[in-house]
Amino acid sequence: MLWPPPGAETTDTSDLERLYDYPDDLDRPWVQVNFISSLDGAMSVAGRSAGLGNAADKKIFALGRDLADVVLVGAGTALAEGYRGVRAGEVRAERRARLGLSPVPPIAVVTARCSPTPESLLIADTSVPPIVLTSEAAPRERRDALAAAGADVVVAGEETVDLPAALRALGERGLRRVNCEGGPQLLGALIAADLVDQLCLTLAPLLAGGDSGRIARGPLPDVPRTVRLESALHHEDDEVGGALMLRYRRTR
Ligand SMILES: NC(=O)c1ccc[n+]([C@@H]2O[C@H](COP(=O)([O-])OP(=O)(O)OC[C@H]3O[C@@H](n4cnc5c(N)ncnc54)[C@H](OP(=O)(O)O)[C@@H]3O)[C@@H](O)[C@H]2O)c1
Repeated sequence: MLWPPPGAETTDTSDLERLYDYPDDLDRPWVQVNFISSLDGAMSVAGRSAGLGNAADKKIFALGRDLADVVLVGAGTALAEGYRGVRAGEVRAERRARLGLSPVPPIAVVTARCSPTPESLLIADTSVPPIVLTSEAAPRERRDALAAAGADVVVAGEETVDLPAALRALGERGLRRVNCEGGPQLLGALIAADLVDQLCLTLAPLLAGGDSGRIARGPLPDVPRTVRLESALHHEDDEVGGALMLRYRRTR
């Protein structure tokens, strides 16, 4: 599939909505993961993913938020990328109202140590209460401080965050359309626990070099997870020499 189609002056975003929509009638949290990588496998340039991005990728990234009940992110990414609560915006508000979703999805941050503080923009600058998915290992005073600042604090797991339990907690809150925005440690843990339902991967037409890590790192799963290519969007403009936006779903 080519996007935009050859000769088209504008992009038909309703096609993209259909393509990237979640399965109907979900009876459990369903996890989509969104990443961008350079052709040589770098997941960041100078510590941030922005150096890899382009307009087309930003559109898919925003669509991921627009269609989700909740945005799931690791504490490392939230800090590196300066996360704050999701903004409503005109396009997002119209789309979510039309699709019967809440005005904005909350952000659920995964943090074993409860590292965000009440002053973090993720906690302090949001129109909906953030969710903190943490563990028994996090000092109680940090958990209490985040709860006092308005966060919904969920303790799932002892030393680290028990991801199946954390996802169950999201499901209990009616949050089943889960859009995970990384980062690599969280994706590695999701792969190890076999919890990735879909991977949306943008291949940026760049050779980044450097020493950036891969999009996943962590424990070796018992077997590699198998996925099937569902769609491949190609985007080319004057600035970007051919980005590929790939969508893979797990095979069972
Ligand atoms: N290219 C892309 O699309 C993309 C996307 C996202 C991020 N990134 C990049 O990735 C880098 C950050 O990497 P990262 O590995 O630090 O990111 P990360 O996975 O977002 O964060 C790691 C931190 O998250 C918490 N965490 C993750 N998984 C956990 C688990 N299963 N249980 C408990 N806690 C868990 C821990 O926080 P605590 O230490 O608080 O316990 C851990 O230190 C940044 O440079 C960012 O720009 C790139």
